[in-house]
Amino acid sequence: MRNRRAALAAVASAASLALTLTACGQSGEGGSEENKGGSDGATVGIAMPTKSSERWIADGANVEKELKAKGFKTKLVFGEDDPDQQVSQIENMITQGVDALIVAAIDNKSLGNVLQQAKDADIPVVSYDRLILGTENVDYYASFDNEKVGELQGGYIVDKLGLKAGKKGPFNIELFAGSNDDNNTRYFFNGAMNVLKPYMDKGQLVVRSKQTDLNQVTTLRWDGGTAQKRMDDLLTSSYRSARVDAVLSPYDGISIGILSALKSDGYGSGSKAMPVVTGQDAEVASLKSIISGQQTQTVFKDLRELAKVAANMVDAVLDDKKPEVNDTKSYDNGSKVVPAYLLQPVSVDKSNYKQVLVDGGYYTEDQLK
Ligand code: GAL
Repeated sequence: MRNRRAALAAVASAASLALTLTACGQSGEGGSEENKGGSDGATVGIAMPTKSSERWIADGANVEKELKAKGFKTKLVFGEDDPDQQVSQIENMITQGVDALIVAAIDNKSLGNVLQQAKDADIPVVSYDRLILGTENVDYYASFDNEKVGELQGGYIVDKLGLKAGKKGPFNIELFAGSNDDNNTRYFFNGAMNVLKPYMDKGQLVVRSKQTDLNQVTTLRWDGGTAQKRMDDLLTSSYRSARVDAVLSPYDGISIGILSALKSDGYGSGSKAMPVVTGQDAEVASLKSIISGQQTQTVFKDLRELAKVAANMVDAVLDDKKPEVNDTKSYDNGSKVVPAYLLQPVSVDKSNYKQVLVDGGYYTEDQLK
């Protein structure tokens, strides 16, 4: 039986009845105030990957807020980017008897065993932002159109360099991708490459390092320091006598690392202009960097909406209803195609950040000063 909420409600009303009967027979106190609200006392476990990036802290807070507004209780844990720690955190939540799980995986392939335990305990699972791979025990997927994210990054570079408008270049570009254990990584990279590759083939874009395969350009755990080191190495090995015109970066934390390496090499001062550097997540540090003319672009994903989607999914599943989904074919996790609700990402740069983020109520002007 999936409908744990109904079961909980039944237990609660039996308890309430018992209390009332006792009260009638004895002291006159009684009645139960329990289980008001939509959740009937159900608890949702939320496993986020890390606190090292502000987005996941916001995700945790947003998801809790949405669930609490529906009357759920919540348990929120963060995994410090350590897959083993995340597995034991989820195990603990299962032992503690949560009624549903929302999980943003650290390593998308490490959760098969623990999600089998969830299945055995009849706990539904929503995969949050990142798809969990290799297990049937993922009920729904709440995310953004991840390929579109990459297309926005690649498309931005094409526009900024004037490639579509006919500029021949050749322009030098280097490519960075996310963590190889995150399923989103290849969607972002493939989306960007779909747009960039035709210009690489025509010679308008040149990757001097020749590192163009996904497995040559990934950044374990999306770490900015790792990206900085790789950019340092690329500048030394391939750009002694040439300039970088663009860097494809999949995520703001990586962009910040890349920009540090570029700055150390003299980019952004004198006649050495900063290359076009993309990003993702519209984190405050990157927006400040965009406003001050260093990072060029980021991709905004409205995490308030993602939290709503995930909370609605849990709410529906625990009510034995089918959640709203808008994609039933793109996300095959190797064991099944996971029904998904995908939100739309938005490209943001200096020209539209006010309109999208400030007017949209995501940040105040003061936060970005
Ligand atoms: C991805 C996520 C990105 C970014 C990255 C690093 O899975 O989709 O938005 O946050 O992780 O945290």
